[in-house]
Amino acid sequence: MSFTVAIDGPAAAGKGTISKAVASHFGFAHLDTGLLYRAVGAKVIHGMDPLQAARTLTPRDLEADDLRTSAVAQMASKVAVIGEVRGALVAFQRSFAARDGGAVLDGRDIGTVICPDADAKLFVTASAETRAERRFKELQARGQADTFDQVLADVKARDARDAGRTEAPMVAAGDAVLLDTSEMSIDDAVAAAIKAIESSR
Ligand code: C5P
Repeated sequence: MSFTVAIDGPAAAGKGTISKAVASHFGFAHLDTGLLYRAVGAKVIHGMDPLQAARTLTPRDLEADDLRTSAVAQMASKVAVIGEVRGALVAFQRSFAARDGGAVLDGRDIGTVICPDADAKLFVTASAETRAERRFKELQARGQADTFDQVLADVKARDARDAGRTEAPMVAAGDAVLLDTSEMSIDDAVAAAIKAIESSR
């Protein structure tokens, strides 16, 4: 039997952490759909045409080691405005969502476009400053040299591009549970997410 959980929200709101914890709690598979756009962005940085990159994406591309850099994140949000690029990635995401045993997908348009009939939907947010602080610490831990101000500017630029595009803009689905993690610990945010999903089971 399939059970689909859609978790959307802006960059560094805690979606990834929450999605992994939720997937492990329920024994569901997890797909970080941002990685698909990052993998396309990375190929474009290396010179490939965006649509060709999206159409020829393989699971192996999702394991490239430069996918977590700010440059790749920015390019990911640039290729993500192209309708044909998004279209080329739909079938893979939908078949992942429909797999037996349950699936958690996190991204920007899962509850609105990819899985509008998802069994549970969450929209995870936090203030831009909180998110930039979290991303800054993550990048620092990985030895990347971005300053806090750069990270904040990047987060805001990506938010504006993701929310402002015409094709599948980042927006909470009407039936999503909103979770603002600005003042929450990771454990509290995960517990709130699990509770919201339990109540739709
Ligand atoms: O989630 P993450 O920050 O890794 O996503 C990178 C970029 O990919 C986002 O800024 C967004 O532009 C794009 N994206 C998207 N739709 C998704 C997931 C990610 O447009 N479902």
